[in-house]
Parts: sequence; structure tokens; C-alpha cells
Amino acid sequence: MSKQDFKRKIACIGAGYVGGPTMAIIANKCPEYKVTVVDIAQPRIDAWNSNNLPIFEPGLEERVLAARGKNLFFSTDVDSAISEADIIFVSVNTPTKTFGQGAGKAADLQFIEKTARKIKEVSKSDKIVVEKSTVPVRAADTLDQILHSGEGGPHFEILSNPEFLAEGSAISDMENPDRILIGSKETEKGLEAREELCKVYAHWVPRERLITTNLWSSELSKLVSNAFLAQRISSINSIAAICEVTEASVSEVSNAVGRDSRIGRKFLNAGVGFGGSCFRKDILNLVYLCEFHGLEEVAEYWRQVVAINDFQMSRFVKRITKAMFNTLVDKKIALFGFAFKPDTGDTRDAPALQITLGLLQERAKLCITDPHALPNAKLDLKGCEGTVDFEEDPYRAIEGAHAIALVTEWSCYKDLDFKRIYDLMEKPAFIFDGRNLLDHKALFEIGFNVYPLGKPDLKHF
Ligand SMILES: NC(=O)c1ccc[n+]([C@@H]2O[C@H](COP(=O)([O-])OP(=O)(O)OC[C@H]3O[C@@H](n4cnc5c(N)ncnc54)[C@H](O)[C@@H]3O)[C@@H](O)[C@H]2O)c1
Repeated sequence: MSKQDFKRKIACIGAGYVGGPTMAIIANKCPEYKVTVVDIAQPRIDAWNSNNLPIFEPGLEERVLAARGKNLFFSTDVDSAISEADIIFVSVNTPTKTFGQGAGKAADLQFIEKTARKIKEVSKSDKIVVEKSTVPVRAADTLDQILHSGEGGPHFEILSNPEFLAEGSAISDMENPDRILIGSKETEKGLEAREELCKVYAHWVPRERLITTNLWSSELSKLVSNAFLAQRISSINSIAAICEVTEASVSEVSNAVGRDSRIGRKFLNAGVGFGGSCFRKDILNLVYLCEFHGLEEVAEYWRQVVAINDFQMSRFVKRITKAMFNTLVDKKIALFGFAFKPDTGDTRDAPALQITLGLLQERAKLCITDPHALPNAKLDLKGCEGTVDFEEDPYRAIEGAHAIALVTEWSCYKDLDFKRIYDLMEKPAFIFDGRNLLDHKALFEIGFNVYPLGKPDLKHF
């Protein structure tokens, strides 16, 4: 199809973990649409145009290669992409504010606002503007005011279409979503724009999975989804703490509780805590909204989800210290996994970072291994050279180590030769399985002192 023949033109502003993969899927599923992903970061765009994509995500490379140069384009020419687009997805970052009013809680909306101003400045024709980024409720109001400020000019219809993909399974999440949520104004133009976006997704998503709501319900639903998911993790992690002091097993409790169909089994695995760029940020955003509207009790309720997560990470470090005779000074600990979850190289807000800093405070020496996250881990731990080493090969990471702390449940760790590992370690050899991934009984029989999470210790002394 020549460029002029495209039925519709889509621009996506922000070529990150969301913008890149979501647009790769749309381009694959809608060959008659031209999809251009733009970003102000030249290195990111260069990477999207290279054989070394800027993010690791199973299945992503194939999807990008199938469409790139045909109907999927990556560029830093933001103005041209906006100017020719019928539909503009805004997929820029909305981190937690680090300054001024709301610091540490509120969403920093400067990138959204700058994008809106750019759209206004460049556009000569009517457009649908889709909020893909996660934003506080009523952010669409702000977009609307900026886009329609001044006299005359084109019309912009704003939609909310939050993204529910989970990193590590982003491609299958997008190709087979539980639901697609589209919020719009309930005006004639709003409903028309809503239908326009529904038609994009209807290329591969059954209509009954397209949920349509008003703008504010859609914006709020994204924050609430992440808050509920994180709440389940904090709930089971709080129970893991009780299990450790009562010799109950959190896996058995979680199975018994989760088999109640009213509760369900997903997101009930205890671990060292949730991470990633979204959960903490989105809950804090919700907390800030509650505070802003004078709902202090509601704010406090959600604040506790984050507090338990912090507690869980520091509890893990304390448990390691206590088990290893109350001192970690100069002891080598191999950290298995640094990514915030398996199948991604993303380390944003990864529990591994807090755990590393906690272990360093105890003056341990760390060697970090991870199949995909070492480049990001090195950036995160800049300045810690000398006390932290990085090693791709787990067998080299554990040479001379006193302990292994498993922090990310990469499935490849299950297949390691733990007898060989045991032989290469200092004795007594400890293993702290922060994700309950490994076969604890087998490890104990090899000779390890094993500390599963939320379960009784298996130790030889
Ligand atoms: N990462 C996830 O798993 C996930 C899932 C669902 C929703 N979200 C939400 O999606 C949004 C994007 O998240 P992400 O992880 O893709 O972020 P990211 O940081 O990976 O990507 C954002 C990109 O936007 C670019 N950008 C910022 N301002 C710009 C501007 N004015 N013009 C052009 N480009 C600009 C940045 O350079 C960056 O490359 C956030 O609101 C996030 O909360 C993320």
C-alpha cells in the first residue's frame, strides 16, 4: 500500500514501554492504517529503527519487524506525525511528582501538558486525541482546555483509553485482552469518536470485550485496577509475615483461600513485594486524589497497600541478616534477578533495588545476575561500584558467595544445577527464595539452609 492510500493515520506520542508495543500491535492488525510513533528522545527512536529494540518483551521483535517500514514508522518528527494524523495517542510518561505541591504522590503531568500544547500548535485539522497514559481523574478536562484555548482552530475530541498490558506478557495481553476500555464524552461528537476508536480495536478484539464509559469512569478505572492488583499482593504478603512466625505455609493458605471462586487464585503469590513503574505511582496518585477531595480515610486505606510493600522488602533484608548470624559484613550475596518481574529488562521501582540498598547498608558485598536487566541494573546502581558486581552467568555470580537471594522469578533459575552451585559456595550456604520458585526440599537435601518466603525455614543447625 503506498503511503497516500492509508485509510486512516495514527500518531502515537511517546515511544516507551506502552507506545512502542501497543502501536506495533495496531499496525500488525490494521494494515490499512498508517501508524507513526514519535518521541523527543532520539536514541529511543534510533533503537526502535534498529535490530536492537529499546525494550525486551517476548514476541515484540517479530511484530515490529513485520510492520516496520510498511505501515509502522518510528520518528522524532513529532510535528509531521501530529499534523497528518486523524487519531493521536498520547503515551508519554506520567511519573510521580518529585517537587512542589503533591511531591511524592501526585502525578507529574508536565509531559502530558507539553504534548497537548504541541498538538494544539501544529494541528490544522480536527483530530481525536486519545489518553493512553495513566492520568488522574478529570485530566481530560485539562487536555480539553489546552486544546481548545484561544479563538477558532480545529476541534479535538478527547478519549480515554487506558492501557492494561502487563510488562513481560504485553504482546499476548494486547492481542488477547480481557477488555479494552474506551471513555468518551456522551455527546454526538464524543460518541462518534468513541466508535472510531472501537473500529480500530474491532480488527482483532471481539466487540463484547470493548467496554465504553464516560471519560471519568475510564480514567479512574485504570487507577483502581492497579490499586486492586497491588492490594491483593500486599494482602497475601502481610499474611506471609504471619506464616513465618506460626509455621503456616503461605502457599497452602493462598491455595486454600484462592480456591474460593469469590476470591480467585490470581495475584495471590507471596513475594518480596510488587514493583514496576506503575503500581506504586498509581496508588499514590489515587491517595493524592482522595486527599485532595478530603477523603482522608480512603487515602489512608490505600496508603497501607504501599506501606505493606515497603515492609515486605525490609522484612526480607532483616530475615537474611538474622539468619546469617546477624552480620552480613563482607559476606558475598548473589542476587538472582533484578528486573521487577520475569520476561522484562525493566527495573523501574524493582524490589531488587531496595533489597540491594538494604543489604549494602549491612555492608554485604553483592553480585547481581539477571538474564535481561543487567544494563538497567548498572544504571540504577551507579556509584555502588566496588561493593556490587554484575555477572551474566549465575554460576560465576555465586562463586565464593555465602548466600543466594532470589528476587525475580525467572524460570531459568529453576533449571540450574544447584549441586554444582552448592559446591562453589562458602559454607554454611544459605538460600533465600523471595518468590518461592525453587524446590526447597531438594535444596535442603543438597545441603543448603533454605528460607522460603512465608514458610518455615529448612536449616541444618
Ligand atoms: N509500562 C507499563 O507497563 C504501563 C502499563 C500501562 C500504562 N502505563 C502508562 O503509560 C504511560 C507511558 O508509560 P511507559 O512505561 O511507556 O513510559 P516510558 O517512560 O517508557 O515512555 C514514555 C516516552 O514518552 C516520551 N515523551 C515524553 N514527553 C514527550 C513529548 N513531549 N513528546 C514526545 N515524546 C515524549 C519519553 O521520551 C519516553 O520515551 C504512563 O502514563 C504509564 O503510567 C504504563
